[in-house]
Amino acid sequence: MRILGIETSCDETGVAIFDDEQGLLSHELYSQVKLHADYGGVVPELASRDHVKKTIPLIKEALKKAGLTPADLDGVAYTAGPGLVGALLVGATIGRSLAYSWGLPAVAVHHMEGHLLAPMLEDNAPDFPFVALLVSGGHTMMVEVQGIGEYQILGESVDDAAGEAFDKTAKLMGLDYPGGPLLSKLAEKGTKGRFKFPRPMTDRPGLDFSFSGLKTFAANTIRANDDDEQTRADIAFAFQEAVVDTLAIKCKRALKQTGLKRLVIAGGVSANSYLRQELGSLMTKLNGEVFYPRTEFCTDNGAMIAYAGMQRLKNQELMDLSVKAYPRWPIDQLKPLNKQILK
Ligand code: KG4
Ligand code: ZN
Repeated sequence: MRILGIETSCDETGVAIFDDEQGLLSHELYSQVKLHADYGGVVPELASRDHVKKTIPLIKEALKKAGLTPADLDGVAYTAGPGLVGALLVGATIGRSLAYSWGLPAVAVHHMEGHLLAPMLEDNAPDFPFVALLVSGGHTMMVEVQGIGEYQILGESVDDAAGEAFDKTAKLMGLDYPGGPLLSKLAEKGTKGRFKFPRPMTDRPGLDFSFSGLKTFAANTIRANDDDEQTRADIAFAFQEAVVDTLAIKCKRALKQTGLKRLVIAGGVSANSYLRQELGSLMTKLNGEVFYPRTEFCTDNGAMIAYAGMQRLKNQELMDLSVKAYPRWPIDQLKPLNKQILK
């Protein structure tokens, strides 16, 4: 079976074709980063308009690269939420309409389930169950995963998401949007120990996160110090170290609480090499294993949507003819897969 996946929930247009026997056949991505850079963040209306321009050409390109025509497909999957409503509606409208005109079933995919399942596209895919740390620009969540659709949220951010904290702090330091990767690059030249940032919400039990205080701490530190390049790098280092350390403390806690030995990290911030390194050594210490997607599938992409869509298609979770988008859609509302159908 083959499925076309379409992702338009934020500022990336992603398209991919996934085959349940051969794996990923093609994937195309267009990032709107330059479009939003002047505004220092995503402008929803501009994002929607750009998805309108890019989605169909990318679908044509993905079909061409896979050497397929629409007649070779068995379904069309698109991100239906959570995300920016206008951006979601572009993918949902195009996906639903193409499915109708091609006589195929349409599948609505949950964006965060897409992220969570992205490591399944790798050779070294995790077995269930596992603990998943989802760290993106819009969400930070710790989830106990017993199987596809069997998600128990163990904790989440009470304010900013981890990626959002990276971006806001980067902006304070004068870095372009999205600042996460740029801040991380700057931190490579930083000196450990010069600044010490707090580890929010680690001194009390529980698995929730709070990152907005770190941004304020960063603002105060920037104000109180010289603006030379080394100081900026040292501040970036201390900020990144605090976020990563906080995430690692919570991962350790979640693994202890669930008794699980496998950890999955996914979402844009899972591309962060310091986070990968620190969680790697944590899992070695705990005699467990850490899994993450290849870097290009950490951030938004069509491949993860095609993969998640295939699981839901096989489970017969098909959309009616209306075009629907769900800007807010809690991940624990998803249905467990019917294991008898899937085998
Ligand atoms: O998953 P994603 O592409 O979009 C959402 O679903 O939100 O995540 C984007 C986020 C941005 O906040 C970006 O700054 C952050 O992921 N990010 C990083 C890195 N690469 C992307 N943050 C820290 N270090 C990175 N290397
Ligand atoms: Zn995302």
